[in-house]
Amino acid sequence: FDLTHENTLGLKSAARLAAHITNVDELEATVDEAAARAMPLTILGGGSNVVLSESVEGIVGLMRIGGRQRTGQSATDNIITAGAGENWHEFVAWTVANGMPGLENLAGIPGTVGAAPVQNIGAYGVQLSDFFLSLTAYDTQNRKTLTFDREACGFGYRKSRFKADPGRYIILSVTLALPRQWQVTNAYAGLEKFQADARPDEVMAQVLALRQSKLPDWRVLGNAGSFFHNPVVNLAHAQTIPNAPRYPQADGSVKLSAGWLIEQCGLKGERLGPVGTFEKHALVLVNHGGATRADVSRFSALVRERVKTRFSVDLVQEPIEI
Ligand code: EPU
Repeated sequence: FDLTHENTLGLKSAARLAAHITNVDELEATVDEAAARAMPLTILGGGSNVVLSESVEGIVGLMRIGGRQRTGQSATDNIITAGAGENWHEFVAWTVANGMPGLENLAGIPGTVGAAPVQNIGAYGVQLSDFFLSLTAYDTQNRKTLTFDREACGFGYRKSRFKADPGRYIILSVTLALPRQWQVTNAYAGLEKFQADARPDEVMAQVLALRQSKLPDWRVLGNAGSFFHNPVVNLAHAQTIPNAPRYPQADGSVKLSAGWLIEQCGLKGERLGPVGTFEKHALVLVNHGGATRADVSRFSALVRERVKTRFSVDLVQEPIEI
């Protein structure tokens, strides 16, 4: 089964077997099938945060469980639930169009609703965990569906318990609480012009324009968004790097911008074979055509090595290796 068009990096990849999963019965059948054949099962959503091998072992389950609805309302929030296979951006646009704003800063992020909690997606001052209520997931070890509240998900910057323990739980649905009293999140450069009288759809349009101005469209140029985390270092270390954009953290440490560090190493727009950094944003690795996982590894190793030598910073990869 060809996976080249199932990953936004567009890496050449194939699996022995694949199954479309549109409901829990199909998921259970696929889990049984994998067990019967003693094969690993890998779930793919939109394939927007993965680095796929040329040959993926076992069975790939393509998550397609749909559905989105307002499931309740409290004094303060609208409660909405969506199936794991829903497209994230379409889901955000639907909430905004239906008078349930809050997610507009997260518009335009590629991938599915089910993948969103795995790395706690974030952009423009907002993270999924800010609005997260609970999710349901199928536990492949105990073969039952469980509910996880926010605390149980162990969210952090681009992380969750699901990213730390891949394969065990398969997310089925996500439930969010969107405050009925909407407030704009406008701290990010380019959004400050929006004040209390702003409209959520205008903010969403501006977020999409910002993304378009610096991030490549994976349909045109394969990519997986930011390829590395923004590194967090101690203050003394940060002070050894003059002029670096610094984002002070609550514990006194400092978050640096990986894109800036990579650009300073002269690697913005550079390439090695078919893989390089995007000309407008050095944190985004792009596939200029025909790349494999090996090409990505070679180039990302070069980036890590240059940044380590110059700044003594270890960059950590964001997309998951499969
Ligand atoms: N910068 C450079 N050179 C570059 C790229 C960036 O100097 O080539 C500088 C910018 O000028 C700015 C700073 O680095 O001062 C930060 O850049 P930007 O605002 O573009 O954000 P980022 O830290 O690179 C993060 C997220 C993005 C998210 C944006 C906006 C991570 C790893 N990435 O990027 O998320 O869209 O902020 O909130 O935290 C993703 O995770 O895939 C992703 C795209």
